[in-house]
Amino acid sequence: MDQPQPPTVPQLVAETVVPATTVTPVPGAAAQQPPQQPSNTTIEIATEGDGDDTALVATVTGIVNRVYFDTENDIFVEGTKRTDEQEVRSIIQAGELAVLYRLPGSSAPAHPQQEERKAIGCIRIRRVSDDVGELGMMAIDPAHQGGGKGSALVRFAERYVKETLGLSVSRLELLVPSGFQHAFKTRLQAWYDRLGYQMVRLGVFQDEYPKIAPLLRGPTEYRVFEKALVAA
Ligand SMILES: CC(C)(COP(=O)(O)OP(=O)(O)OC[C@H]1O[C@@H](n2cnc3c(N)ncnc32)[C@H](O)[C@@H]1OP(=O)(O)O)[C@@H](O)C(=O)NCCC(=O)NCCS
Repeated sequence: MDQPQPPTVPQLVAETVVPATTVTPVPGAAAQQPPQQPSNTTIEIATEGDGDDTALVATVTGIVNRVYFDTENDIFVEGTKRTDEQEVRSIIQAGELAVLYRLPGSSAPAHPQQEERKAIGCIRIRRVSDDVGELGMMAIDPAHQGGGKGSALVRFAERYVKETLGLSVSRLELLVPSGFQHAFKTRLQAWYDRLGYQMVRLGVFQDEYPKIAPLLRGPTEYRVFEKALVAA
């Protein structure tokens, strides 16, 4: 029998994300569960046409620069920006950006002006070899962090790498200062570990990010993590 072939890259892949509290009930504690919440976010691969959506490009660029400033301003010299609108547009046009949207109807009724669908996070997913898909530029708007949306982005990306790109390995990277203990990076690495990623080597940051590598404040390690994507 023919093996199913991975589909060609689609224009749109969507996944509705249900808040973790509604999908992982505690066994035997159904009576104490909060009422079921409607799904309030969705993840989609941005289409080529989304590259012309200046509001979307600006929002995503703003989120990425904001969260990387929050977590890496002690690693880079003042004023360093992780990305810019031109780069985000080209990543979107290459079909490499998954965007996390808050859906209409998910904000408090007292704020109807917030009712439109709004980008609140993203992850870049790209083929880097015959086997490996790399996940990068993962960012969640700070107002929405800590509720499982980062984990949902990784799950979406891993599924996309395996099922859509037809690759068997997912890769994540981490830039860590060598001179001091960085609390957020330590937390991030522990999360990668819980997600099943193992460090496979040290990379060369300059090769991956030639524009911002000269702006590092001091010595760093660029750690590369991988995970074999097994059949579900
Ligand atoms: C990485 C990032 C996207 C995660 O977003 P998030 O919304 O916090 O994601 P989650 O809520 O799914 O949390 C991810 C993990 O961190 C843990 N976590 C979240 N907030 C935490 C906190 N304040 N303290 C300790 N752990 C925390 C969660 O428990 C989860 O681990 P688990 O799934 O094993 O329970 C977000 O922190 C971010 O935008 N960071 C800046 C950019 C960055 O560093 N990107 C990664 C490199 S590409």
